[in-house]
Amino acid sequence: MNHFLDIHKTDKTDLRQIIDSARAIKDSRNGRPKAALDDELPLKDRMVALIFEKPSTRTRVSFDVGVRQMGGQTMVLSGSDMQLGHGETIADTARVLSRYVDMIMIRTFDESVLEEMAEFASVPVINGLTDRSHPCQIMADVMTFEEHRGPIARKKVVWCGDGNNVCASFLHAAGQFGFDLTFTGPVQLDPEMEFVGFARNAGSSVVIERDPAKAVADADLVVADTWVSMHDSQSARERRHNMLRPYQVNQRLMEQAKPDTLFMHCLPAHRGEEVTSEVMDGPNSVIWDEAENRLHAQKAIMRWCLGT
Ligand code: CP
Ligand code: NVA
Repeated sequence: MNHFLDIHKTDKTDLRQIIDSARAIKDSRNGRPKAALDDELPLKDRMVALIFEKPSTRTRVSFDVGVRQMGGQTMVLSGSDMQLGHGETIADTARVLSRYVDMIMIRTFDESVLEEMAEFASVPVINGLTDRSHPCQIMADVMTFEEHRGPIARKKVVWCGDGNNVCASFLHAAGQFGFDLTFTGPVQLDPEMEFVGFARNAGSSVVIERDPAKAVADADLVVADTWVSMHDSQSARERRHNMLRPYQVNQRLMEQAKPDTLFMHCLPAHRGEEVTSEVMDGPNSVIWDEAENRLHAQKAIMRWCLGT
């Protein structure tokens, strides 16, 4: 049994195997109705709990559909409706859930919740986003890049905006998959040095460039995310917008990159804020493939967790 807690905590060889398996899973479904079962049913007779302490569209639906396609069943639980939200410890919740279900996916605030869940659960635990990382998203992003452009190793990824949880997982992935990352954003929102250090120690180049036009030169991929994440206080909204406005990904910025530079966004996007509709709906954008690939990547992650 394996937990999938973070990209930097997962063996490099396993990460590569998960991406390859996701590709094979996607290919094998070619043209099949979405509700149709896979040929193999690796999650037959398995029950998966999907716990959400924050809102979600993609994570919720892609995990739910993925489990069902593989022959399993799901139970979607809202953190606030559980005793977890009313004083029961995470450790006790993990012990009890492990008696009922075969795997737990959790989206939560503090990463200590995820870690405690994994420590006390006797079934695999998957990180569906915390304030500090979003590993399932970046597995789908690596898969999407490679689908369009081949191996991601030694390619240049540019992160524009807030050095947030999704950026952190990109830095982990830079170290594990061997690509280089340039961060462009205001100094107040730089990614934590721990994440930058991980990528650099693994041999990847991490550059901090305040000028977005210089940052995107020669980029193979430009990535944006919301300026205000779910864990950020709404009172900081205006201040963040003011700081981040120069880092909007628009057509003018994309023209400073290469004609074939890809654009990604984990979604949900705020059109006209971190990215313009022209870029989101433009020829270099692969955001819908990226969203679809959450399904395939997570099916591969779940199979790896259960060893099925
Ligand atoms: N990208 C992503 O995780 O989307 P949701 O918040 O809708 O799950
Ligand atoms: N950084 C965003 C990602 C949403 C999928 C957030 O945490 O709200």
